[in-house]
Amino acid sequence: MSTRTIANHQPLPADEFEISSVALADVVTALSYALDITEGQPAGHSTKSCLISMRIAREIGLPTSAQSALFYGTLLKDAGCSSNAAKVCSLFGADDREIKQSFKIHDLTHPGRALSYMVRNVAPGKSLRARAAKLISLVAQPSAGKQLIQTRCSRGADIARKLGFSRDAAAAVRTLDEHWNGHGEPDGLAGEQIPLLGRIACLAQTVEVYFSTYGLIAALDVAQARSKTWFDPDLVAALQSFRNDTTFWQTVDQPDARAALSEYEPAEKRMSVDDDRLDAISEGFADVIDAKSPWTCKHSFGVADGLVAILGQLGYSDEQRRYWRRAALLHDIGKLGVSNLILDKPDRLTHDEFQQMKRHVDYTRQILELVPCFRGFAADAAAHHEKLDGSGYSLGLTEHQLSLESKALCVADIFDALSAKRPYRKNHLPLDQVLEIMSGEAGSKICPVSFEALKMHLETQGSLHRVGPSVELACETKTSTGENPLPVRES
Ligand SMILES: [Fe+2]
Ligand SMILES: [Fe+2]
Repeated sequence: MSTRTIANHQPLPADEFEISSVALADVVTALSYALDITEGQPAGHSTKSCLISMRIAREIGLPTSAQSALFYGTLLKDAGCSSNAAKVCSLFGADDREIKQSFKIHDLTHPGRALSYMVRNVAPGKSLRARAAKLISLVAQPSAGKQLIQTRCSRGADIARKLGFSRDAAAAVRTLDEHWNGHGEPDGLAGEQIPLLGRIACLAQTVEVYFSTYGLIAALDVAQARSKTWFDPDLVAALQSFRNDTTFWQTVDQPDARAALSEYEPAEKRMSVDDDRLDAISEGFADVIDAKSPWTCKHSFGVADGLVAILGQLGYSDEQRRYWRRAALLHDIGKLGVSNLILDKPDRLTHDEFQQMKRHVDYTRQILELVPCFRGFAADAAAHHEKLDGSGYSLGLTEHQLSLESKALCVADIFDALSAKRPYRKNHLPLDQVLEIMSGEAGSKICPVSFEALKMHLETQGSLHRVGPSVELACETKTSTGENPLPVRES
């Protein structure tokens, strides 16, 4: 944790923000862990799926340029997964992560199996009447599954493009759930109508899930059983050709396969990141984060605008503000690992639910620490719910243990939440009321220096510059006790 404090705050010298040659693959691989937890998969699922994709690619002699597209297409295959999480949760009345995880195990293309699955999984823990009502609602929406996949695939492909990857990589993301027999989604493509990279990624992700869950024999068996239905038979044959490569499967089986994966990226296609690419990646993942819940649409961008404004008033350089803007864009990346049952719950959270909510900042720290050029602000980003008096979470840090940037981030976070619309209130809180609420906390819970800087910016500029549309909805403060440390919060 940084030791920079309000008392001695000094903007960091510019040379601390220089990006030495950081591999793009390392950044994307690390951030793919956030996509894994959104899908209810163990962290590392995308990395291992990519390993399997690339090994198949080698077996079939895929050209180098296509290998590079496959590499990033597989890593980002779940980039659209957050965009349907709220809908999945709402349709099933269940933890979206658990539903998504089981989607990857069960073959639900058969109507009878799909119905059986729904009967077993709708509204778990609810009364028989509630479960029956949810089941009837679900069955009455036969196109819901198709729409969910369409949303996920098109959104994922859009994000891959926004991150600067090729059309072929985006096509792999879009066609991930197409099946060889034409019964997949979103377009019902069949056979070689499906882009080859999508066919490889589709096979690789299923093999990885079965391999991690049930072992190699089960993974190879399911690939063989679904050859010509789900999977391209030639690719299944390629997979079977290295079934006895014990070294490879041991590599896939290790807890952290990132180092092994780097050897599979075509050397001549390796890229380093620069500031523009890091901005694009941060914004792309902010989109992923904000898509997770309708209550926090554009929240990450609003917080970024707030932090940049505050740091500008405090004398930070353009370069420094650019660096910290990335921290703001990614401060809630850990929310991707929290169920929408909690994120979207309109009522007060139970004690257990609040404990789960609080874990999002730990996920944020863990994910950002994996990213070479985001490691420097991981702890600061994860401290955005800490309060000066130690009443925040998750570490209960106090004023002098918090960096100025993390305290400014907290102020920006609260300001955006208070300024947003609510499901129970159609209009924004007036700015005066927002500032009055925050003023009551300045000095006791939130940083007075940052708050004054925010007010100064608003007085001189009139408003924050927002990137994209204004926030439409925001979460209500949810605590286990019903106390609202501020009248709103969780953001
Ligand atoms: Fe937030
Ligand atoms: Fe948060």
